[in-house]
Amino acid sequence: MSICEQYYPEEPAKPIIKTKSIPGPESQKQLKELGGVFDTRPAYFLADYEKSLGNYITDVDGNTYLDLYAQIASIALGYNNPALIKAAQSPEMIRALVDRPALGNFPSKDLDKMLKQILKSAPKGQDHVWSGLSGADANELAFKAAFIYYRAQQRGYDADFSEKENISVMDNDAPGAPHLAVLSFKRAFHGRLFASGSTTCSKPIHKLDFPAFHWPHAEYPSYKYPLDENSDENRKEDDRCLAIVEELIKTWSIPVAALIIEPIQSEGGDNHASKYFLQKLRDITLKHNVVYIIDEVQTGVGATGKLWCHEYADIQPPVDLVTFSKKFQSAGYFFHDPKFIPNKPYRQFNTWCGEPARMIIAGAIGQEISDKKLTEQCSRVGDYLYKKLEDLQKKYPENFQNLRGKGRGTFIAWDLPTGEKRDLLLKKLKLNGCNVGGCAVHAVRLRPSLTFEEKHADIFVEALAKAVNEL
Ligand SMILES: Cc1ncc(COP(=O)(O)O)c(C=O)c1O
Repeated sequence: MSICEQYYPEEPAKPIIKTKSIPGPESQKQLKELGGVFDTRPAYFLADYEKSLGNYITDVDGNTYLDLYAQIASIALGYNNPALIKAAQSPEMIRALVDRPALGNFPSKDLDKMLKQILKSAPKGQDHVWSGLSGADANELAFKAAFIYYRAQQRGYDADFSEKENISVMDNDAPGAPHLAVLSFKRAFHGRLFASGSTTCSKPIHKLDFPAFHWPHAEYPSYKYPLDENSDENRKEDDRCLAIVEELIKTWSIPVAALIIEPIQSEGGDNHASKYFLQKLRDITLKHNVVYIIDEVQTGVGATGKLWCHEYADIQPPVDLVTFSKKFQSAGYFFHDPKFIPNKPYRQFNTWCGEPARMIIAGAIGQEISDKKLTEQCSRVGDYLYKKLEDLQKKYPENFQNLRGKGRGTFIAWDLPTGEKRDLLLKKLKLNGCNVGGCAVHAVRLRPSLTFEEKHADIFVEALAKAVNEL
């Protein structure tokens, strides 16, 4: 019996589409009602999570879609997963929900166990964790940890703040509020809060009207595909971008204290960074005393066939901070150097200091992935799916440009010739029973759960061939 069959003996055998348009009439009616209290403009349809199961999401019209978008890459184990339902019904969960602790001041007796369980899933080389609430929050907390560490190195880890620092910080002035930068990359997405928003630059709509820090954006490599046929050219591209990174660190108007990078830029178009590029960044960050942060919010928790995507690069020595959220449900950052723990309390602090209910779910997700070997399954299914997509690419080269994600589990993407064609393909895919997302201007990105198997890949490829044929 496959893992999906073990979890979901009742999972639908295939998608069921009952309405001629999506959203269907009932979705439209209920979305209109909801529109009175919520911004429903980005809604695809109104979902019925009670009826959704495994790899299938159902809407209020009774349409049941094979889900390759999975709540913007955030459902690790399918809908209504029995192991997660069991964790959700535990006494610890009830305590976490009903008497939510302000963890910093009043940590619970359950917390030690929860964090140690989360740490079982830490990336290689990392053995500490600090918890946050969302992807953007995780990145902002990581920036704070990086700045605190950077200044502690200059001041001395145990040295106290000067009077000048204490006074100037109250006016948002240096030296208490120092002029320091985080370097990120063009097309990056690290969240929509203020500091994370300054490191994001995938689309103007995420940033317009918000004051931003004056922080540098280096160039992220743009590779030629297939990778194995273009290795010389891609190496030159890596070197070109690395030179820009180093130049920006050396010449930016304010010191660069940290660098943040996605191992695969996801919202920005599924742009991959090579092992060489990610390792060279480690060399550069060490040379210039810059904190190295890897953002695994979207790539993390198994979808690339490893628990953490940057583990493919085996970066040595390990990076300083690794941020997570989405498929782990809980959020935060992993680290290994205790010097990233601030020298005084209340410097990295807020009311909740994380969300224990989400930590319980994260622990259960990590345990299931390990027990059921779901990263191995994701690699196997990804290879199977990739081959099928290569076949489609041969047939429809115009509509399968830059197919990428080979050997990266089901974390697969490709480009359509235009944004209009991509949007049309996504629409037709829905009408053919598959919920799929796009990214950047004209890319399609696949982000199914780790419970996605070969039989689901077959259904998707059949629907895709039909949809492409209709373009
Ligand atoms: C790589 C990456 N970092 C950060 C974020 C922000 O996460 P959140 O939307 O939970 O704030 C995202 C969200 O898509 C992401 O893909």
